[in-house]
Amino acid sequence: MDYFKVQKTVALNGTINVSGAKNASLPLLFSSLLAEGKHSFSNIPNLEDVHLSFKLLRYLGCEIEINTKPVFDQKAESLNSVTITVPKILKNIAPYELVRKMRASILCLGPLLTRCYQAKVSLPGGCAIGLRPVDYHIEGLRLLGADLRLLEGYIDAKSKGPLVGANMDLQFPSVGATENIIMAAVLAEGSTCINNASVEPEVLDLITYLKKMGADISVSTFIDEKKIKKNKITINGVEKLKAASHKVIPDRIEAGTFLIAGAMTGGDLYLHNVQACHLGGVLEKLKQLGCTVEVDNTKGKDSIYLHANKPVVAMDIKTEVYPGFPTDLQAQWMAMMTQAKGKSLVEESIFENRFMHIPELNRLGASIKVNKSTAIISGPCLLKGASVMATDLRAGSSLVLAGLVASGETQVHRIYHLDRGYEFLDHKLSSLGALIKRCS
Ligand code: EPZ
Repeated sequence: MDYFKVQKTVALNGTINVSGAKNASLPLLFSSLLAEGKHSFSNIPNLEDVHLSFKLLRYLGCEIEINTKPVFDQKAESLNSVTITVPKILKNIAPYELVRKMRASILCLGPLLTRCYQAKVSLPGGCAIGLRPVDYHIEGLRLLGADLRLLEGYIDAKSKGPLVGANMDLQFPSVGATENIIMAAVLAEGSTCINNASVEPEVLDLITYLKKMGADISVSTFIDEKKIKKNKITINGVEKLKAASHKVIPDRIEAGTFLIAGAMTGGDLYLHNVQACHLGGVLEKLKQLGCTVEVDNTKGKDSIYLHANKPVVAMDIKTEVYPGFPTDLQAQWMAMMTQAKGKSLVEESIFENRFMHIPELNRLGASIKVNKSTAIISGPCLLKGASVMATDLRAGSSLVLAGLVASGETQVHRIYHLDRGYEFLDHKLSSLGALIKRCS
């Protein structure tokens, strides 16, 4: 099994192109099921999860054409364009064998149900970062008039005819539930209103594509009874959608990971193909840390320059839904805080078990304690290289970042987790001067 060997790196310097967003690509690929015909996508990252989506789409009856181009001196390939040909008649079963490998496969439920009036999708299994139930998805589709039962580990969904629009309040602005319900509602009869919906950039990118296919969707806000501002998504169902083409938004989590790596190694970084506005409060936090952060989003430019002026200082964060601090950057921020002078608090409010990287960071010599959903990091710590294990995608990236500042050699194992969500991580880091090598 592959692993990374990482050596202490003085400062990351140089320029990288940010890849397309994994968490935008997956719902976009499954949204193609909503309309017969040729859908073409560009800026789709060459990731394990993307290939798992292709496998499921092929299983459902789609044809996938991938046009690649060599990058990093032929050592890797990026996906130049992806064309999905969706047939008139689809298979409507997503088997356990495919779904168990990738939870996001649940995002084929809404499209299959609203197009075929029947869908059988395996329940996604457990996950390292939390229980991650799909009750909001199921509840939302039931409100659209579908009959959903859990049968032998599968969600067995049926509707007598077209789904029917409805008003609903999400208990929590779940990304996946919002995406599944929108995709079901676009072909439903009448209007659907999702109150307390998620408006993460990836959700909005899905909406952009659905509208290109002919969907009628609007996003607005309202003040709830507790005077809290919340987001609302309104979908007026249409009879038919048509295939279209779309360029996926850049990956803000990949961008954030590199910016944090730059800040903690005292680097000078240029990130291209990045949308600064998607990074919400992260750039503000990096500026408060003392980094110079310059954004250039003149048309076609979209780049961020970061210069780490001085050692990082202790700074607390609390993960929140967009535009708050993203939970997918929590582990990387924690790795950086091991190098900060003083105590910092990292509170995780989205997932109940997203501290699996802490014992591994402590193995490298960090000093991190946990009190319920808050981690207390004391620093600065002189980290020393050791063998550590990635338990999930973002935890894995925090260990690579820690390896960049640890003396000696750090071996990060189970990097298949990283390959699911970071395109060419080792090539990109090496191009910035990092001492990292993939070994098998
Ligand atoms: C998406 O997961 C992302 N994955 C996650 O990124 C990301 O961490 C998460 O959103 C939050 O931003 C993809 O887009 C493929 P949620 P999702 O539904 O949709 C609870 C990464 O590292 N919940 O917003 O599964 C849930 O347990 C991954 O790239 C229910 O209780 O997240 C969690 O505590 C990891 N019932 C919270 O809501 C439901 O039906 C947020 O989950 C749905 C969710």
